[in-house]
Amino acid sequence: PFDVVLERSGVTVHVPAGTSVLDAVRAAGIPVLASCEQGTCGTCETVVLGGTPQHRCTLLTAEERAAGDLMMICVSRAESPNLVLDL
Ligand code: FES
Repeated sequence: PFDVVLERSGVTVHVPAGTSVLDAVRAAGIPVLASCEQGTCGTCETVVLGGTPQHRCTLLTAEERAAGDLMMICVSRAESPNLVLDL
């Protein structure tokens, strides 16, 4: 479990174990684009402004993963207690 701070929306969303960031954000009423919801299409790619993502997608290169400034919110989670996203 971790928290996601949605910088543009001014909302903090709790993401329980077993719930995706995508679903938690949607449940908070913030519209987000998604398609595959399996970490393969890139539709839900989101800019990470703070915190460390735990990548579970199959899209980003090793360099992009290491940079930690983009994540697929349908599958990827957090290494840090919270993430700050550009949503
Ligand atoms: Fe396809 Fe997230 S919706 S990668």
